[in-house]
Formats: sequence, C-alpha cells, structure tokens
Amino acid sequence: MGNRKKPTDKDIRDAIENQPKISKTTVLSSLLAVSNKFHYIPKNAVEIVAKYTGKTINDVWGVASFYTNFRFTPPGEVTLDICWGPTCHILGSQKILKDVHGLLGIDQEGETKDGKITLRYSTCLGACSQGPVFAIDHKLFGKASLSKIKEKISGI
Ligand code: FES
Repeated sequence: MGNRKKPTDKDIRDAIENQPKISKTTVLSSLLAVSNKFHYIPKNAVEIVAKYTGKTINDVWGVASFYTNFRFTPPGEVTLDICWGPTCHILGSQKILKDVHGLLGIDQEGETKDGKITLRYSTCLGACSQGPVFAIDHKLFGKASLSKIKEKISGI
C-alpha cells in the first residue's frame, strides 16, 4: 500500500457534514461526499453514513453496491489509464496493455502490489487522433509506447 493515510471516523464524518447542500442530504449524497474526498468508500464509512442519515447499514450497502463507480479499497497514489477503445485498439493498445501488465507486475485492472499505481482500462479517452492514448491522473498523453509510459511513471 502507498503512503495514503487511512481516513479516521472523524475524517469521514467531516466529509459527510461538509458535503455541498444542494438538496437534502441522502445516503447517496453522503457516499458521494466520502468517495469524492477519499477516492473510495472505507468500511467504517458505511456505518457512519447509516447513523448520519438515519438508515440501516443494509440500506447504505444497497446504495453503495448498486453504483459501480464506488470502490471499496483505496486507489493507488497515481492512476494510469490505458485506452483500449476502438481507435486505440487499431493503433496497437492491446500490445501496450500487455507490456504495461508486465511492467507493473499485474495482469488486470487494479493496484500494483506497492499500492502506488492504479491501472484502469478506458473505452475512449476522447483523443482518438492521438492514439494510442494513455493518461496519468487524467492528464492525457498520445502516441503511447511502453517507453513513454515508463518515462512518465518513473519516480512514482
Ligand atoms: S479510442 Fe482511445 S482515445 Fe478514443
């Protein structure tokens, strides 16, 4: 795991209490507040959201598990997105993806063993003319190659 500090119960309560009050506070808005702040839903957040919203833990799990964008483990310190959309696929993204698996020591999406990098596959990063495309923490890079990716993640 990386250097990201595990949020305390107080950190989570602060995130829930300080969520933007656009409409009324709900289980979903509270989970979003926690997810936006910590980039995942820590285990203890489910009980805290249940208490805060007056719902049961099952109600909160029901909402949390319905939305596939919520994750329940901490992300890496840096996110590496590799596009495997149609254009990037034609331009060689599968080979790049295979090489990146070797580079990171993982064989699918997820975190490296040291927790520093989260690898994600993207269906289109919106820069097809620059394909194959990758992104590091949402910053796009075109004409991807293994050496270019290595260079951008060196020092992480
Ligand atoms: S398909 Fe890769 S950026 Fe569009």
